[in-house]
Amino acid sequence: MTSTEELIRKEPGRHRVLTGDRPTGRLHLGHYFGTLHNRVRLQDLGVETFVLVADYQVLTDRDVAENPKEYVEELVLDHLAVGIDPDRSTIFAHSAVPALNQLLLPFLSLVSVSELSRNPTVKDEIAHSRQAAVSGLMFTYPVHQAADILFCKANVVPVGQDQLPHLEITRTVARRFNERYGHGEQVFPLPEALLSTAPLLLGTDGTKMSKSRGNAIALSADADETARLIRGARTDAERHITYDPDARPEVSSLVLLAALCEGADPLRVAEEIGAQGGAALKRRVTDAVNGYLAPIRARRAAYAEDRGYVREVLRAGNERANAIADATLRDVRAAMRADY
Ligand code: TRP
Repeated sequence: MTSTEELIRKEPGRHRVLTGDRPTGRLHLGHYFGTLHNRVRLQDLGVETFVLVADYQVLTDRDVAENPKEYVEELVLDHLAVGIDPDRSTIFAHSAVPALNQLLLPFLSLVSVSELSRNPTVKDEIAHSRQAAVSGLMFTYPVHQAADILFCKANVVPVGQDQLPHLEITRTVARRFNERYGHGEQVFPLPEALLSTAPLLLGTDGTKMSKSRGNAIALSADADETARLIRGARTDAERHITYDPDARPEVSSLVLLAALCEGADPLRVAEEIGAQGGAALKRRVTDAVNGYLAPIRARRAAYAEDRGYVREVLRAGNERANAIADATLRDVRAAMRADY
């Protein structure tokens, strides 16, 4: 069977990608090598790309709820800095697209409560939400996510493993909608997941890199802060540097980070450092990261000076997303015989 990746390379124009993030703060190197880099790659292959700012998925997050505008703009800035080009890709916030949100209602009718409560990603989010009660909104995230994806009839969704259950619900919604209302026609495509192949980068404390754990290197950090964070990164007691992610996760993640930034093979990087030890490794990682991020940081700083432009990018993206969502909602209402 031909893989999704091969199909995309063969005919980029027949694919439409939708990806998204919650606006929870500045993006970091884990995001960059995990997904952002791939988004820019797909865009540059000629695939029409939609980047969603999932601002309705952070309503329950207190930090964000107090200042959503700032969080949303930071997310747009990060995308512009890494090379998402608003002339070719659409960046939009789902709260600004009423017709997208209206799809939630018919979609909810196609999914049972027990299917939602079985969803492992929902269970996990509920477990980590630190809230006394689970809101109805949180429960419906996967169906809302189906609306995010299907409003623009995206057929490829680049995701991490953790989002696969959500994508499965999207496929279920699309299939059931087509069966119930399609009258033999496919109103919605069944989107394919494009699983990230990027190896996992650990944070400076050796656990998963995450803003909320304070162990992340933000794209927007400056060179000195980057040096300080890397200097304080956890390593192990063995002096000789090797690349062995299973046995030496912390050291190997640093080697990997240098290798990703240098476009080199991690085994080779480890060999070159070898007996020079941890301090040499950290110097190499710092130089590699700061060198790699320099142009991204320069672009980010330039855009940050021009907030008017950032808001204009979002406004234009919202407008385009609205035009597409309106057309899809018309299709949906027509299919449901509700176009009165
Ligand atoms: N749930 C995703 C996350 O936590 C964000 C998201 C919302 C998303 N809607 C989406 C991702 C649609 C892909 C497609 O990161």
